[in-house]
Amino acid sequence: MSRYPGLFITFEGVEGCGKSTQAQALLERLRADGVPVTLSREPGGTPLGERVREILLDTGHTGMEAATELFLYLASRAEHAAKVIVPRLEAGEVVISDRFSDASVAYQGGGRGLGPATVEALNQVATKGVKPDVTFLMDLDPEEGLDRLVRGRGEHARDRIESEVLDFHRRVREVYLESSRREPARFVVIDARLSREEVEAQVTAAVDELLGERGMRTGRTP
Ligand SMILES: Nc1ncnc2c1ncn2[C@@H]1O[C@H](COP(=O)(O)OP(=O)(O)OP(=O)(O)O)[C@@H](O)[C@H]1O
Ligand SMILES: [Mg+2]
Repeated sequence: MSRYPGLFITFEGVEGCGKSTQAQALLERLRADGVPVTLSREPGGTPLGERVREILLDTGHTGMEAATELFLYLASRAEHAAKVIVPRLEAGEVVISDRFSDASVAYQGGGRGLGPATVEALNQVATKGVKPDVTFLMDLDPEEGLDRLVRGRGEHARDRIESEVLDFHRRVREVYLESSRREPARFVVIDARLSREEVEAQVTAAVDELLGERGMRTGRTP
């Protein structure tokens, strides 16, 4: 459990698994219920972080060093944690982040091969130990996720990370699953092949339970 009165929720998973769809749906539901809530994303979440995001996703930056990439994500995260996440949690809000520390463990630790433990340690520096109360890992075969993105936007629109080979994305998925096995109390693993509605029902059930535990339950009848 976090040391703050608020509730910190993250969505993780491979490209196209439905993170943004579910984060947005949760935001709207909580807002409708009158719960104070902020939706944010990584990389990004602050003006500085959004500039770092542009550098990271720019397809012109081919051959970026794995360490450069990691430190850019961590720079974005340090700002995000200190300037957005912690203040909002201290104010008793729900903070939803579309990706957070687990993404670096999976992408840079696994995908780029820097090692999950190394990335965990550096995440600790970036976040000063802030951890999500719950992390929804939307588990999906990356081939299916990339197909969804292509169907949604067309092949030409891939960013620098999406353009990585399938093996990279398979390593990412595996390390996400390893993380979930290491911290079963924090992770809720959801089969992302399910329909939007079915995924949303699982997210809703878990979030409602946590809100209840925190005494943050709203007037809505279940
Ligand atoms: N449960 C679902 N079943 C099928 N398609 C879905 C589902 N959820 C979302 N989608 C569709 O899949 C595509 C990717 O969804 P979304 O953008 O939410 O994924 P994401 O995980 O945020 O992707 P990215 O990694 O690119 O940020 C969209 O076109 C979305 O409409
Ligand atoms: Mg998204």
